[in-house]
Amino acid sequence: MFISLTLNGKMIADLADADMTLYAFLRKHHCYSVKCGCETSNCGLCTVLLNDKPVLSCSVPLGRVSGCRVDTLEGLEEEAGEFIGFLAEQGADQCGFCNPGYVMNIIAMLREIPDPSDEEIRQYLSGNLCRCTGYESQTRALRNFLNARKGKTEGLDLDAKVYGEELGKRFSVLSEDELLRSISERAGNAAGSAGAENPTAGAGTPMMGGGTPASSADGSGTTAGPAVCADSSDSTSGKGADA
Ligand code: FES
Ligand code: FES
Repeated sequence: MFISLTLNGKMIADLADADMTLYAFLRKHHCYSVKCGCETSNCGLCTVLLNDKPVLSCSVPLGRVSGCRVDTLEGLEEEAGEFIGFLAEQGADQCGFCNPGYVMNIIAMLREIPDPSDEEIRQYLSGNLCRCTGYESQTRALRNFLNARKGKTEGLDLDAKVYGEELGKRFSVLSEDELLRSISERAGNAAGSAGAENPTAGAGTPMMGGGTPASSADGSGTTAGPAVCADSSDSTSGKGADA
């Protein structure tokens, strides 16, 4: 089968087996960022962009992408570079195997939803499985990145003792009156806690809640994260689809 497509901005043409997947084709063409974890549309590791939509390349027959534009991490380093350091700061790259797929889906998410809520982040990335991190570190990293991008950079807590909504509040600009009121309230609270018999230490730690993404299938055998579409007409962002 003759195939031609635009890969990372370059037109390429090749002869390939008719049953070859996009994943195998990309590896053949030296896109080694694209990983294979399951080969069954369940893990999200093989995510690439097909005509700007995230797809699971292990499930896309090569015949469906002729004439399309395909982007892998190799072609999107600059865009990924905007937030990749935040993932590293949070240790969200423990073994790194899942990271390229995560990064591709993050890029797709940020293009589609420039300022996602924590819930939208969890939902969009729920099809990308990671065996090492417990998912919280990725969410913290993205929250830090989004807050930093909004200009809340001063004293940004990359150790992320606080994150999510709390981080946003922490870096909001307070008037002098508000600042003084906040300090006196905190002092009052601290005095109250000190006197309490059974202080609930740690209860104030902000948690994302339900942060573990759905592990995979939704019953249809597809993942909940990347959209899978070859012709872009049936894409459903953030939802797996048939491929
Ligand atoms: S390798 Fe494609 S979804 Fe797992
Ligand atoms: S960092 Fe190891 S699988 Fe995600």
